[in-house]
Amino acid sequence: MNETIKTILHRRTIRRFDTKQIEEAVLQQILQAGLCAPSAGGRQGVIFAVCQNKEINERLGKIKRANSNPRMATATSYVSKEQPSIADDVNLKNAFYNAPTVITMFAPKNFLFAVEDCAVAAENMMLAADSLGIGSCYIGQGWTAFADTYGQEILRKWEIRTDYYAVMQLLLGYPKPEDNHPTAKPRKHDRILRF
Ligand SMILES: Cc1cc2nc3c(=O)[nH]c(=O)nc-3n(C[C@H](O)[C@H](O)[C@H](O)COP(=O)(O)O)c2cc1C
Repeated sequence: MNETIKTILHRRTIRRFDTKQIEEAVLQQILQAGLCAPSAGGRQGVIFAVCQNKEINERLGKIKRANSNPRMATATSYVSKEQPSIADDVNLKNAFYNAPTVITMFAPKNFLFAVEDCAVAAENMMLAADSLGIGSCYIGQGWTAFADTYGQEILRKWEIRTDYYAVMQLLLGYPKPEDNHPTAKPRKHDRILRF
């Protein structure tokens, strides 16, 4: 098995992060992976807003949590037993799980492929992160983190164009050392149709 396939199989969503910040050289490689992702029409429209400010990340994560409508896990339906998600654990208050680096990915409003462009860049970055020993978590519906006056103030402070919106966040950080790497759920192979 080559290294790329090994990384694809190894990557898991990480939701428990060490407080230690990731090194700048490592972050740069992950960002490069994002910049090298495919984009619809080759437009390269995604903006990567990297925030390593603990206070801002915590406040935005809490705003996002307050604006989420999580479906709580049941015995048979859950996101992750080993590292509960916001949707599984009513006690989690910060949708960003105290990750030391939060990258909000912005794309043009009214652009048909805004979400796809961010998603393919995110996957490139998550795989790059895993290969470098960094844990990552994809956070959908990024705009809900900015859905109050503080969030709007941050958008102005970051000088985000008003014709762009926050599609998603990508959380990055070292996995908590005491946590084992989460196990993947069994794959549903019957999703593959062959003709
Ligand atoms: C579109 C999308 C949105 C997601 N949003 C969240 C989220 O808001 N919070 C979260 O903790 N995980 C989120 N995830 C991560 C998934 O829960 C995770 O990928 C899934 O449980 C499978 O686990 P794995 O990544 O370890 O294979 C999201 C993943 C995708 C693809």
